[in-house]
Amino acid sequence: MEPTIHHGLAGVYVAPTDICGIDGEGGRLFYRGYDINDLTEATYAEVVYLLWHGVLPTQAQLEAFRADLLPHYPIPDKVMELLHCLPEGTDPMHMLQAGVAMLAAFDDNPDEVDPDNVRRIGRSLVVQFPNLVATYDRIRKGKEPLEPKSELGLAGNFLYLLNGEVPNPAAVRVMNTVLLVHAEHGSNASTFVARASASTLTDVYSAIAAAVGSLKGPLHGGANEAVMRTLEKIGSVEGVEPYVMDTLAKPKGRIMGFGHRVYKVLDPRGIILRNVATELAKESSEAKWFEMSLEMERVMNREMDKRGRQIRANLDFFSASVYRMLGIPVDLYTPIFAVARVSGWMAHLFEQYADNHLMRPLLKYQGERGTPFVPIAERG
Ligand code: CMC
Repeated sequence: MEPTIHHGLAGVYVAPTDICGIDGEGGRLFYRGYDINDLTEATYAEVVYLLWHGVLPTQAQLEAFRADLLPHYPIPDKVMELLHCLPEGTDPMHMLQAGVAMLAAFDDNPDEVDPDNVRRIGRSLVVQFPNLVATYDRIRKGKEPLEPKSELGLAGNFLYLLNGEVPNPAAVRVMNTVLLVHAEHGSNASTFVARASASTLTDVYSAIAAAVGSLKGPLHGGANEAVMRTLEKIGSVEGVEPYVMDTLAKPKGRIMGFGHRVYKVLDPRGIILRNVATELAKESSEAKWFEMSLEMERVMNREMDKRGRQIRANLDFFSASVYRMLGIPVDLYTPIFAVARVSGWMAHLFEQYADNHLMRPLLKYQGERGTPFVPIAERG
């Protein structure tokens, strides 16, 4: 019988999960049963706890969780030295992937995948990801790395390490929302890569480094950076409509930040970030990028409706103008996605290691068989 090929594994289920539910037609997203809109009331740390433990923490559980994160805050000295050695211009996503491998090298027990060790490494990575991204940014700007301030929480500490000053509560709220809406999204490409890697029973660091590499691509997490590069190229609100029309007129022309494998309506996370951007734009000198984004959404919705296509803005579309208004360098947009998503990747690794099946799909071979071998000296 001819095998059915599921290009891009579209529509294929590889495992049951209790972590995340997505209603692509209704535009709804649930972490462990909770609607993402309701979770915006929580802190990112509460959401990490929820993803990892299946329930929202009590105050005492949250404090115990924060205390368990404390020993992981400092960047190991040798890793810090290595960050200083990276050549100028190193892409922060390459730094992050290398950083994960460096953390493995300086871990006394990187390889065991029993639940306690996997959770210990998860606690380390959820703290080290923001540390690495922010510290690398300081180092490349010639600034001194800062000691983390764990008392500011995960979102606040990240902003502090990036900007060198204790952030105001409004900025912390924005970063908190950014982190929690990016934290988890089912079997997206990078999470699938993490799970597929872990299914060989490789170690957590190797699975997470693979996931970082997968997130970097412009069809996935790299789209937020691509959105801002596109807006920069266009340069003005007036330039948006001609750009969209020209791009759509080209064969396979794509507008970055639109479309999704699962959502057929506006991504609910996009709505949350559009609301965040609306607030930020009221006082930002960089509001122009958001105005351009709104114009792009207007033109895309009109054109997609005309074509009967369900291609709408996704998470990466509005996150780009949010980051711009927060003053974040464009090449840190995708690393921030990783800072958040590492918590989701870890939740999936807990699940994968607990009920492991090697992931080994098939490719339908369509080449020849039995081609006669010709020694190199006789090949024409
Ligand atoms: N602009 C214009 N046309 C599009 C777009 C777009 N952004 N996205 C999909 N299409 C068209 C595509 O050209 C194809 O048309 P046709 O049927 O005529 O050949 C059709 O829609 C299906 O596209 P596909 O790539 O086969 O579908 P997919 O489910 O693999 O696409 C996607 C998902 C995210 C790769 C795609 O929508 C895309 O490339 N978007 C731009 C990149 C982007 O914003 N990525 C972020 C995704 S969301 C967050 C995340 O996971 O990081």
